[in-house]
Amino acid sequence: MSDQPKIEAKNLDFYYGAKQALKSLNIACHPRKVTAIIGPSGCGKSTFIRTLNRMNDVVAGTRVAGDILVDGSSILGPKIDVVELRKRIGMVFQKPNPFPKSIFDNIAYGLRINGMAGSREHLEEVVEKSLVEAALWDEVKDRLKDNAFALSGGQQQRLCIARALAVEPEVILFDEPCSAIDPIATAKIEDLIERLKSTYTVVIVTHNMQQAARVSDYTAFLMLGELIEFDETKKIFTAPSQKMTEDYITGRFG
Ligand SMILES: Nc1ncnc2c1ncn2[C@@H]1O[C@H](COP(=O)(O)OP(=O)(O)OP(=O)(O)O)[C@@H](O)[C@H]1O
Ligand SMILES: [Mg+2]
Repeated sequence: MSDQPKIEAKNLDFYYGAKQALKSLNIACHPRKVTAIIGPSGCGKSTFIRTLNRMNDVVAGTRVAGDILVDGSSILGPKIDVVELRKRIGMVFQKPNPFPKSIFDNIAYGLRINGMAGSREHLEEVVEKSLVEAALWDEVKDRLKDNAFALSGGQQQRLCIARALAVEPEVILFDEPCSAIDPIATAKIEDLIERLKSTYTVVIVTHNMQQAARVSDYTAFLMLGELIEFDETKKIFTAPSQKMTEDYITGRFG
């Protein structure tokens, strides 16, 4: 862990109205590593990763305290351009959410709105590269004009990953990316995450303990908005220092 963290949550609190959903979290996510966020339903996993690219800004009545640093600089101030921030920190959701557009236009969308489309040739190159990176190209290369809704759920999820990659983010946040798809598509996405970490910083929320153990380098265990334990994944899954962590990963509760 010698590098500067890519993302650092410092004493991070988050409130929905009067309800505190995150309690003084300190979590660092390192470049070219996968950080898994685990914990029982409602413990604040989605809230946490949504604060990292300020997706929670759109929820009325929320409040954040403490700080989040990206490359050492706070992203919480009013001067931060959140569109630019979300380009740097992309997100893939639990349910695939393709736009009602063609496969090609789904990928091209982010480039177009960010003024990165360039020539038609350039656009085609980036669409192909993103689909190759997301392990979907071979399945869709002959049907790029088809509507994205014609794809299977697992293909739609990989399309959403390709869409996130197309704008060249630095960080990719995954919120339970495999919960709605079959084991074969899940294996493809896990392989993909493994490859992505050679370039990107990856944060993944998962309910699947085997998945966390397989794909991540570091694991944060949350309960009721608090960080119970944060360590190397190997340590968390073989010799956790907290009894609560052990009970959770062995399925004794949660
Ligand atoms: N928009 C919202 N308004 C009010 N409370 C919310 C909102 N979203 C989440 N919460 C509350 O914040 C807490 C954390 O929710 P969050 O969705 O982050 O949990 P989670 O760990 O992702 O759970 P799950 O595993 O079920 O997805 C919960 O108590 C939840 O009810
Ligand atoms: Mg969630």
